[in-house]
Amino acid sequence: MALVGKIAVVTGAVQGLGKGLSEILLQNGAKVALLDVNETEGKSLKEAFDKQYGPDKTLFLKCNVESEEQFKAALQKTVQTFGRPDIMCNNAGIINETDWEKAVSINLMGVVRGTYLTLEHMNKLTGGQGGVVVNVASMAGLGPLPSIPVYTATKHGVVGFTRAMAAASDMSGYGIRFNALCPAFIQTDIINAMYTPEKVGQFTHLIDATKKLMEKFGMLQVSEVAKQFLQLVTDETKNGEALMVQCKGSDYVTFPSLI
Ligand SMILES: NC(=O)c1ccc[n+]([C@@H]2O[C@H](COP(=O)([O-])OP(=O)(O)OC[C@H]3O[C@@H](n4cnc5c(N)ncnc54)[C@H](O)[C@@H]3O)[C@@H](O)[C@H]2O)c1
Repeated sequence: MALVGKIAVVTGAVQGLGKGLSEILLQNGAKVALLDVNETEGKSLKEAFDKQYGPDKTLFLKCNVESEEQFKAALQKTVQTFGRPDIMCNNAGIINETDWEKAVSINLMGVVRGTYLTLEHMNKLTGGQGGVVVNVASMAGLGPLPSIPVYTATKHGVVGFTRAMAAASDMSGYGIRFNALCPAFIQTDIINAMYTPEKVGQFTHLIDATKKLMEKFGMLQVSEVAKQFLQLVTDETKNGEALMVQCKGSDYVTFPSLI
């Protein structure tokens, strides 16, 4: 898939990984709707992108992925402004083991919501033109991070949901590919949450164990992960994949075959 002229939607787009994913899409010629709850950062990022890529290349839309209404409206506005999306990246995520229901709501329910709402615009069976959905999971979607079990559960959920949707799409003819991005530790603000007792709650005593894991795996830069993300978007042969990204390289995960 060539990206010039393509329309993308990215959630959690105004900082960290989402900003990097939005930027690599822009650099390759796509237009990007930037969805995020952070309006202040959103407006200033849009200004910066306007200067760099031109004013008609991005759209900032305040959107909490927990809200069906806001998400629907943001996609509607994207369609009105740019046209139907070709690329959806459900990236917004948090770490909060104390308010764990919020973590489930954003990390898993937000991804399901974003996927289903986008399907309405992309599905070839209902007049769409197909496309690709990349859901941001984590290496914690493939194995346990003991200090953040609910985060681990949500990311396993994202991997499972994405793979099931890929198979459903294949079997039904949606014309949409679904892939999961599973990075190890990346240098972004979410890392601070792993060190914060209010966020890890009853697992605060495991913070040192997380630090040891970080030393073992190293810290990825956003730009390195963004490059790998591009493979999942552009390579038309990739559907139902989970791409594990580590400092030492990236690999497509092999799962047992059930279907
Ligand atoms: N940084 C890492 O080590 C790492 C590793 C693997 C996966 N991830 C995943 O990458 C994704 C991006 O995280 P990040 O590392 O850039 O963290 P971050 O905290 O820097 O960015 C998260 C972004 O999501 C936005 N957001 C939060 N709640 C939202 C909501 N309800 N609706 C819309 N937007 C919301 C925030 O405003 C922020 O812009 C997350 O899904 C995270 O789980 C991060």
